[in-house]
Amino acid sequence: MRAVRGRVLTLKGNPFLAEPGSCLVHHEDGLVVMQGGRVTAFGGYELTKAALPAGVVPTEYPDALILPGLVDTHVHYPQIQMVGAFGAQLLGWLERYTFPAEVSFADRRHAEDTARLFLREVLACGTTTAAVYCTVHPHSVDAFFAESERFNTRMVAGKVLMDRNAPSALLDTAERGYRESEALIRRWHGRGRQLYGVTPRFAPACTEAQLDAAGALLREHDGLYLQTHLSESPAEVAWVRDLFPARASYLDVYAHAGLVGPRAVFGHAIHVAEEDFCTCHRTGAALSHCPTSNLFLGSGLFRLFDALDPRRPVRVGLGTDVGAGTTLSLVRTLGEAYKVAALRGDKLDAVRALWLATAGGAEALHLEDRIGRIAVGYEADLCVLDTAASPLLAHRARYCTDIEELLFVQMTLGPERVQATWVAGEPVYEAARTPDPYRYPG
Ligand code: GUN
Ligand code: ZN
Repeated sequence: MRAVRGRVLTLKGNPFLAEPGSCLVHHEDGLVVMQGGRVTAFGGYELTKAALPAGVVPTEYPDALILPGLVDTHVHYPQIQMVGAFGAQLLGWLERYTFPAEVSFADRRHAEDTARLFLREVLACGTTTAAVYCTVHPHSVDAFFAESERFNTRMVAGKVLMDRNAPSALLDTAERGYRESEALIRRWHGRGRQLYGVTPRFAPACTEAQLDAAGALLREHDGLYLQTHLSESPAEVAWVRDLFPARASYLDVYAHAGLVGPRAVFGHAIHVAEEDFCTCHRTGAALSHCPTSNLFLGSGLFRLFDALDPRRPVRVGLGTDVGAGTTLSLVRTLGEAYKVAALRGDKLDAVRALWLATAGGAEALHLEDRIGRIAVGYEADLCVLDTAASPLLAHRARYCTDIEELLFVQMTLGPERVQATWVAGEPVYEAARTPDPYRYPG
C-alpha cells in the first residue's frame, strides 16, 4: 500500500455537458491511498487519513497539483527521431521525413532502443496511457509492449498497416497485414494492461482489401481498438476522394470497411462535415484533437466546440501526434489547444482542458470506468505537476486567485516534464530522484 498527499484535482463529470465548476473535485490537502494498482481511498486528508494503516507514510507533494495520469489518444513512437522537421505539409512531410524514419525500424535493436526512450519521455511528461502507432514491422510492436509491460502502463498500440503509396520497404499486403496483426493480438491484447489497436495508417496508404481485412480483425476479436487518420489536410482529403470515388465522405471509406464504432479513434478530423460528427456520436467512435501537429504542419483548426456540441457530443481526446506534433507533453498541448480554440473564437477554460487530457481521453478510449479520474476503484495512475517548477512559475502561482487559474497557467507556462508520475500505484518517475529518475533504468 502507498499513498500521496497534496493538492488533488480531478473531474466527476463532463464540463462540456455540465457547468464546468460543478464537475471539479478539488482537495487543497488531499490524500490518495492505493493498493493492488487501484485507488482504495481518496478525499481530504483529515477525513481520509483513517484509511492509512500505521507505518504507511504518504509521499508528500507540496507546491504541486496531483492529477489523474494524462491520456494521449494519438502518438507515433517511431517518429521521435524526426520530430520538428522543417518545411513541409502533411503529404510531403510523410515522404520526406516520416517514411525514411520508419524504414529504420526494420532493425529490431533500433525499435527496442527507441521504445525504451519513448516510454520514459512519455512518463516524464505525466502521460500514463497512450494510443500508439508503431511501424509496419511486427517487432516494433513487441518492442513497445515489452517496455510498457515493464512499467505496467495501460497502453494501446498496433502495427501500422499499409499496402500502397509508400516506399516498398514499408508495405505489407492485405493478407500479410492481417496475419501479422492477428499474431500480435494473440500475443498482447489483454495481457496485463496492454491493449491492441488495429492500425491502418490512413485511407491513401491502404487498399480497400486492406481496410476490409482490418474490419475482419475487429469483428473476430473482442475489445480491439481501431486507430487511423481522418481528414487532416485538404490535399489528403482530395486524394481520398479520387481514390474512393464511390464513398460519400472520407469517414464513409472507413465506415464501409466496418471500422467506425466504439474504440475507433480517428486522428485530426479537421476537414469534416456535421454529418461526420453525427456518425461519431451515434457509433461511439472518437476523435483525437492534435493541436501542435495541426499548427506545425499547417493542417487546419479542429472544431473542438462543434465536436462537443451537447446536442450530439462526440468522444474527443487530446493527441500529441509526435512527430508531426512538437511535444510529448499533454500539458503543453493543452496550451496550444487553447490557442487553436481562440483562433476559432472560442475559449477553452482550464476545467474543460483538464477533462480533455484525462477523463475525456479515457472516454475516447472507452476506458472511462478505469482511468482518467482519481476515484476509489480506479486504476491508480497519477501525474504530479510542480507549480513552482521555475522562479517565474512560482512567482506567477502566488498571484493566482483560484485553482482554475493555477491550472491554466500550467497549460500556458508550465514545463514539459512533470514532478512525478505514478502508474498502477507505484512511483515510476520522480524528477528529483538521482541519478536515474525512473523506476526501471533504461
Ligand atoms: N497521416 C498518415 N500518416 C500520418 C502520420 O504519420 N502522421 C500524421 N500527422 N498524419 C498522417
Ligand atoms: Zn498521426
